[in-house]
Amino acid sequence: MELIDGKMIADTIKGEIAAEVEQMVARGERRPHLAAILVGHDGGSETYVAHKVKACEQCGFTSTLIRYEDDVTEAELLEAVDRLNRDADVDGFIVQLPLPRHISEQKVIEAIDYRKDVDGFHPINVGRMSIGLPCFVSATPAGIVELLSRYGVETSGAECVVLGRSNIVGKPVATLMMQKGNPGNSTVTVCHSGTRNIKEITRRADIIIAALGQPGFVTADMVKDGAVIVDVGTTRVPDASRKSGWRLRGDVDFENVAPKCRLITPVPGGVGPMTIVSLMRNTLLAATRKIY
Ligand code: GUN
Repeated sequence: MELIDGKMIADTIKGEIAAEVEQMVARGERRPHLAAILVGHDGGSETYVAHKVKACEQCGFTSTLIRYEDDVTEAELLEAVDRLNRDADVDGFIVQLPLPRHISEQKVIEAIDYRKDVDGFHPINVGRMSIGLPCFVSATPAGIVELLSRYGVETSGAECVVLGRSNIVGKPVATLMMQKGNPGNSTVTVCHSGTRNIKEITRRADIIIAALGQPGFVTADMVKDGAVIVDVGTTRVPDASRKSGWRLRGDVDFENVAPKCRLITPVPGGVGPMTIVSLMRNTLLAATRKIY
């Protein structure tokens, strides 16, 4: 069993991006600029956004964090999106999800100019990805595919089982894994809460991508020997031994599953750092007008 070291690969890629940014600056171009809107004080969202701001510093980007309290109205948020759409100094921006229940996430996502949608959540980017056109690919799926590629995992012809069908991870990663190309070309099965006999399906998998948000869901009896496992889960579970009182737990019962695997991502330190770095790459693509 070998661990997939997402943190190490993410650090390497951040170094590559930072070098490219310094060349841009030496040519007299301005630094890429990423803005983030954060609503409320959800612990997970605070942590993600803090990591994104720190990654901007490491890559030599300018970053702007715009904060609102939980009681911000949908109209106010849509105005903020519109201001960022029109701000020529901002190359790309994200609205951290989830949003409070009184705000339509879909309305906010669709209000973002798709040319600045570095999260790749706008229907134009989702649609372009699904038919294989250049676009901003959402960060977690892009990071997963990059990890598999950097670890030399043969995806062509592989049986890939995706657990979860979210718009942010399950659906787009299934699309990427099945697309004609390398990485890609896998035979993909997507399992979800309506799936019968999940165990029979996962036991066939050469590659399992677990993204359902249920800690420890994937147990050793669900995994064939030599499988490659990507764990996207990041649930906070109580842990009295930590100062914070919690720790992150993935969707895979790591302790019992890892010995059976050829490769497996840890939580934390696997997919998470790659998600952030994919967002940095999308921002660089936006700043250099490589896509739109
Ligand atoms: N919430 C969980 N993951 C993400 C992400 O990749 N982008 C945004 N904007 N919100 C998220």
